[in-house]
Amino acid sequence: MVRILLSDHDEMYSMIIEMILRQAGYEVLSVAPEYCIGELKSSRFDLLLLGVSPDLGEGFPVVEWIRSDTALSETKTILLVSHSMKLDLTNAYRLGVLDFIRKPAFPEVITRKIRDALEKPCKDSILVVDDDPGNIMTFTTLLSIGYRIRTASSGAEALKQICQEVPDLMLLDLHMPGMDGFEVMSALSEIENAHNLPVIVVTADDDVDTAAEIFQSGAMDYLVKPIVMQVAIQRIRRILELSHFQNDLRDELRQKNQELMAANTRLQSLSDQTIYALAGAIDAKDAYTNGHSRRVAEYARELARRMGKSRYEQNEIYNVALLHDIGKIAIPDGIIDKPGKLTDEEYRIIKSHTVRGYEILRNITVMPLLYIGARWHHERYDGRGYPDGKKGQGIPEIARIISVADCYDAMSSDRSYRRALPQEEVRKEIQAGLGTQFDPGIGKIMLAMIDDDREYRMSHSVNFPQDGGDA
Ligand SMILES: [Fe+2]
Repeated sequence: MVRILLSDHDEMYSMIIEMILRQAGYEVLSVAPEYCIGELKSSRFDLLLLGVSPDLGEGFPVVEWIRSDTALSETKTILLVSHSMKLDLTNAYRLGVLDFIRKPAFPEVITRKIRDALEKPCKDSILVVDDDPGNIMTFTTLLSIGYRIRTASSGAEALKQICQEVPDLMLLDLHMPGMDGFEVMSALSEIENAHNLPVIVVTADDDVDTAAEIFQSGAMDYLVKPIVMQVAIQRIRRILELSHFQNDLRDELRQKNQELMAANTRLQSLSDQTIYALAGAIDAKDAYTNGHSRRVAEYARELARRMGKSRYEQNEIYNVALLHDIGKIAIPDGIIDKPGKLTDEEYRIIKSHTVRGYEILRNITVMPLLYIGARWHHERYDGRGYPDGKKGQGIPEIARIISVADCYDAMSSDRSYRRALPQEEVRKEIQAGLGTQFDPGIGKIMLAMIDDDREYRMSHSVNFPQDGGDA
């Protein structure tokens, strides 16, 4: 369990905060300020919630003491500050204070700030890159209390260190012998995980052109020498906060993206399963042509593949073909199963399965191709088909593909009244229908599929004989 040490001179407020934190699931020990250091030394705490008041004067003696003690220097600290107190932020951040809470605060604010502080690393790391040992010494002395400081005396050395471990921020001198600051920034894009490393450039050039070039190179800010430390610390703090915020946003975006993709996959599989279930219902309606929808879908997908359609288009065509005969659900069983010759009226009713299918599917607007396949798969290339007598390229391509696949299956599979036709005869019929019944281009691809199927096994196999190409 997360343990928090609460130390504030205001007893009443300490009781309230303790109650809030316990309700939030934290283990809390509340002590008077004079016992704070003793408790920290005798037991492990994940966070110190420390009350500060103007009576303590400038600075925060307890925090300074903690930071100077090697065993305690990593203690995460949040300050509790009275509403009217003017807080020396520069000093607080220099000392590595993670955040502050102004009293009185809403319970949500308190728990959020504590949660955020617990998630943050104890100290951010800063890489100071400068060829001047004096500058390195100045930054190290001023920043080492609140940050983990690493140093590099050249651009090349900085890049080498970044390759090993990317810091949270880089303070980068612009003018260095060998590789200058601009070259270092441009090389960052080559290093994995360093693309978003925030850079603050340090330079003696205080002119507009340099400033513009610094920002163009990807730096987030710049400091002009001689460095005013109060300003530098505030800017470093702000850039680090911004960078953490951006990283959190990126993580959240990545998480949302993954959730969206998972939801999309679930939705896709739901729609696939619905289509398969419907196709099963169509085939169950006509026991003699069982498996017809699936076979037509397989042939249509293979035709699409050989036509050079993308994998996405092939799958789309497969689904449309699966439901091409869905209108048969609305046709009475007595007509569909009738073994003998159909009367003119019965034939008219059978033919209406195209329009009935269209009516069933037309409201599925997210997949408009579904109703196109159902309505026009009995159109003929010469315009003598039904229900609309569409002609040539005026028939949607997907319906022209399904038409060829549909007729191939009708001839190549066993029916109640006859066995499958011999392959040579099927081939002849398709050949004869080129340009009259079928789109000649698509029909020729079907002929090639027949020729590749030397054993005449296509109707028994999901895997098609390969023609060498794979679109
Ligand atoms: Fe049909």
